[in-house]
Amino acid sequence: MTKIAITGSGSGIGAATAEALRAAGHQVIGIDIRNADLNADLSTADGRAQAVAGVLARCDGVLDGLVLCAGLGVQVEPPARIVSVNYFGAVELLDGLLPALSKGSKPAAVVVSSVASAHLSWEDNRLAAVLEAGDEAAVAGVLESAGEKRGNFAYAGSKNAVTVAVRKRAVDWGRAGVRLNTVAPGVTETPLLQASLDDPRYSKAVRDFVAPLGRSAKPQEIAAVILFLLSTQAGFVHGAQFFVDGGIDAMMRPTRF
Ligand code: NAI
Repeated sequence: MTKIAITGSGSGIGAATAEALRAAGHQVIGIDIRNADLNADLSTADGRAQAVAGVLARCDGVLDGLVLCAGLGVQVEPPARIVSVNYFGAVELLDGLLPALSKGSKPAAVVVSSVASAHLSWEDNRLAAVLEAGDEAAVAGVLESAGEKRGNFAYAGSKNAVTVAVRKRAVDWGRAGVRLNTVAPGVTETPLLQASLDDPRYSKAVRDFVAPLGRSAKPQEIAAVILFLLSTQAGFVHGAQFFVDGGIDAMMRPTRF
């Protein structure tokens, strides 16, 4: 049995992943804002430190897998909170738990990014400088400059940055013997999706975002790819992003990959 920590374990993709991992015989440490094995608010530095300390205590400093699923959608106010959870809630857990992962058995980590990570380039990501500097307090000011589109910008900018953060860690993590990858889901039937469909500011754009396969994903379809990336079958997959999006990235950016 292996020990795997997972954020966002209470809902959607995280819940489907936790269920599939438990069914496969893994010991899961679920982390969420409430009703989890470990309750922590990943939108704050204190909550993130509490999550890292709680996982280390529960795994005795040796962790085999990590899945970072917790995230907030475009409609959440204030939008700086989206960035706090989607970006800082991922990178601070990656960095805090790497020492424990490096002692694990065939260890691997997966961060749930989004197809939205490819909606802008790192060079065009106005959040890039403050996020690389770890300056969470400066995020709200940068988002203000995006005006009415700040929800979209907070979401896509934080997802772009978290994918870049994973790729930039490929060398150090590879040397530590820990594989690290992202999955980039497209539209997936979860409460996060429903909340953006229910918000008149975003519902049309979300409805119009139709994949070539002509449907949205079930959370279990994203969980299946996460389980593959954690498994030894993916033993040479490292620093990669897997789009699980029904073909929408290929449709939007056929010449870029
Ligand atoms: P969800 O809303 O069903 O689950 C997200 C989980 O994160 C919830 O359990 C929630 O309580 C937790 N969470 C939120 N804020 C938190 C905080 N401050 N501290 C601790 N936990 C917190 O959403 P879903 O769709 O399962 O999202 C999972 C990941 O997949 C997110 O990172 C999301 O951005 C990403 N994603 C989702 C897509 C979709 O269409 N549903 C598409 C692309 C990416």
